[in-house]
This record gives sequence, structure tokens and C-alpha cells, in this order.
Amino acid sequence: MTEQRTEARIAPLPSGGLRAPGSSGPDALRIDAGALTDLPEGSMRRVTHVDLDVLVAHTPTGLVAIDDRCPHMSAPLSIGELDGCVVACPLHEGRFDLCSGDVVQMPTTGGLDADGEYHATWSPVGREPKVDPPGKKAEARRFTRVRRLRYYPVHVVDGRIQVDVPG
Ligand code: FES
Repeated sequence: MTEQRTEARIAPLPSGGLRAPGSSGPDALRIDAGALTDLPEGSMRRVTHVDLDVLVAHTPTGLVAIDDRCPHMSAPLSIGELDGCVVACPLHEGRFDLCSGDVVQMPTTGGLDADGEYHATWSPVGREPKVDPPGKKAEARRFTRVRRLRYYPVHVVDGRIQVDVPG
């Protein structure tokens, strides 16, 4: 008989002050995020508390919890694809490294990265870059900023995943 493993590593919080505001200190609340055995490495789950949606992902580095909102235009990352530490957004092909907090691939709409650097709209290799027609829509895309991921502290207690969120 094989013993069922219930411990899991917790991925270290990436540097750069990426802890979600309100997720530590006396006002934080610890919520249940399901059984560890139901979240094997390579899988993700959405956990909802009031109007906060949290993505819990089991990466090769360990468990991480972030907002279940793409840092581009808020699509639910939990229905995207997880490949190692990298989650792919289902909406504009943005890809984000959950272990480092970095953008791996800017969304295909282009826009501003977290530091305000502009990235052009994506075009297939070998094609001329797509030129945005003038107008509010193109302007909105140019000014849309891809924000940094924000992390919630994760714990595993008696085989249950727990996440600290703002109370
Ligand atoms: S909403 Fe995720 S890449 Fe645009």
C-alpha cells in the first residue's frame, strides 16, 4: 500500500513587495482552499471569498496563491493553462511566471508593462507589425498597463490548503 502524501512545498514569495495588500497582519483572514490531495502538481483551482477570487496553483516550486484575475484585463487565469510555473491567460495569450512574478509574454494587444514601457501589438513572425487604427479603442489598448501579480500567503494544515486574504 502506498502512503498518501499530504505535505507540499509553499513557493517562496517573489521579491519586490508583491504580497497582496491586507493579506497579513491582524485584519487578515485565513480561508480554506480545499484538500491538497485534490490539487496535484500542475493543477490550479479558483477559490472565492465574498467578491475576491483567488487562484491557487501547484507549481514545481510549490503552492502559490494570487488573484484569479489576469494582470492585463482581469480574465480568470484559473481557466488558462499551467505549464510548470507559467500560467497562460485564456484571453490575449499573456503568460505570467507564478514563481517569479514576471511577465513571460506580453498580451497580444500590447500596452504598457508594469514599469510603463510600451509594447507593440503582437504580429505573427514574418509579418509587418499591426498598426492600430486611430480611435479610443487603440488608445485604450496602448494605455492599458499589465500590472504585477500579487500574492496571498499559503499554508497547508492537516492536508488542507489555506490562504490568508484581507478580512
Ligand atoms: S486579460 Fe489576460 S492577457 Fe489580456
